[in-house]
Amino acid sequence: MSDIVLATASADFEERVRRATGGMARCLPPGPLPVDPAHLFLQLGDGPRPEVVVLDDAAGAPGQALALADLFQRQCPDIAVVVVSDAGDAIALPAMRAGVRDVLDPAAEEPHIRWVLERAGQLARHTQAFAAAGPSAPGAEEGRRGGRVIGVVSPKGGVGKTTVATNLAIGLAQKTSLPTVLVDLDVQFGDVASALNLDPEHSLIETVHGPATRDTMVLKTFLTQHASGLYVICGPPTPAAADNVTGQDVSRLLEMLASEFAWVVVDTAPGLSEHTLAALDRSTDLVLMTGMDVPGVRGLRKELDILGELGMIPDRHQVVLNFADRHSGLSTADVEATIGTGVDLVLPRSKAVPTSVNQGIPLLQSGVRDPMTKQLRRLVEQFTASAAPTADRGRVPIKAPAAPRPEPVLAVPRSEPVLAVPRSEPVLVTPRPEPVLAAPRPEAALAVPRPEPVLAAPRSEAALSTPKRRAPRITSESGRHRARARPRWAR
Ligand SMILES: Nc1ncnc2c1ncn2[C@@H]1O[C@H](COP(=O)(O)OP(=O)(O)OP(=O)(O)O)[C@@H](O)[C@H]1O
Ligand SMILES: [Mg+2]
Repeated sequence: MSDIVLATASADFEERVRRATGGMARCLPPGPLPVDPAHLFLQLGDGPRPEVVVLDDAAGAPGQALALADLFQRQCPDIAVVVVSDAGDAIALPAMRAGVRDVLDPAAEEPHIRWVLERAGQLARHTQAFAAAGPSAPGAEEGRRGGRVIGVVSPKGGVGKTTVATNLAIGLAQKTSLPTVLVDLDVQFGDVASALNLDPEHSLIETVHGPATRDTMVLKTFLTQHASGLYVICGPPTPAAADNVTGQDVSRLLEMLASEFAWVVVDTAPGLSEHTLAALDRSTDLVLMTGMDVPGVRGLRKELDILGELGMIPDRHQVVLNFADRHSGLSTADVEATIGTGVDLVLPRSKAVPTSVNQGIPLLQSGVRDPMTKQLRRLVEQFTASAAPTADRGRVPIKAPAAPRPEPVLAVPRSEPVLAVPRSEPVLVTPRPEPVLAAPRPEAALAVPRPEPVLAAPRSEAALSTPKRRAPRITSESGRHRARARPRWAR
């Protein structure tokens, strides 16, 4: 007999089902019907995922059993739902539309109940076997290979991680039409829900504990769906709740998600917490962000150093500079010289961003015409263009599978900065006009405001508009090998 779960308010019907199944059926505790499959799984606790769910129409509000059956059909199509109803033929059509396998009369006798449940169980097993072997929904191939996990990180807060992560996830879902999930790993103060105007039923907590941890199909029922089709795991409702999430939880969650989704975008808290390190460990791609300010850029350099030493920077990574404007007093070249590697994308400071954040509608969802929207599209394209891991891009050391990785302890003794390792001669270097900037900057340059008129205007202009100075986004080889004298403030 199949694994059966029964939700009914009738002790008499429950008894007949128990006898028909040889005592195998599990009964939900008395009370109203669960509102969705996730709540039903929560009520089941640690037990296995059922093959057949029997929902008594009389146990809930009118129509609730069919509404729940409909959710099962969408979220767990391999679980067969049987509805118990005395509505006769009147329920046949709505039941069919809700994907119900069969309808049982509350007065049905034991043999009939057994026959219906056995048949429903067989159908469920066939569906499961077909799904396991069968051909593919879009994205299933990627899923089998393991989806791409993109971590969005920065040493400092407020540099635009959530803005970039939400737009990137929406952009990837739209552009590729592949299953995409966004995970808010800012476990204490995550604001992805607010950035996407979501009111989630479940948060990160339910996805790392209980039934969701054993089965990806069950896990999916705990995700929140955004209007764009994107799936989202929102941060916990309170900072205290975050204490219940460990690095191991994060690691397991991302592994499960990568087996089911083609794109897993991970927003993180500033710095290198246990959760962020666990996410980095699972990431196939990285977006490293900084704003245009000296402490932020210095922080990014340190982060690159330490992650390089730990071998935690994957081949596919993008350095993204946010809040670019001509008044910051820093140029892209300054930043590159300081961090020792090229900047892949420059995002302009834009008034459209706070508006979109306040409305909870990301720029790539609304399609607002704005230079920021354009740059975010370029970021998405950068990911969709790099289908397979590229060979050594001549950047920081990549994950070396064979080499034993040191424990991710941040206090690792620092040897020579990994980013400063001898670089091969630039392959693509087209001699660039040696910028005024490259000259060592006078100490005074540190003190903001920076009055130097030569530096300010033209440089920032170039940083933002780019085409002449930077090949669009794929600056990799040329950009990365360009070793520049670090400005004095960065030494
Ligand atoms: N390019 C931009 N132009 C103007 N405002 C921006 C830009 N990028 C981000 N912002 C604004 O900066 C603020 C911080 O952005 P965001 O929340 O994305 O940063 P964060 O790195 O996720 O912050 P935290 O580390 O605190 O989570 C937000 O109010 C956002 O609207
Ligand atoms: Mg954030």
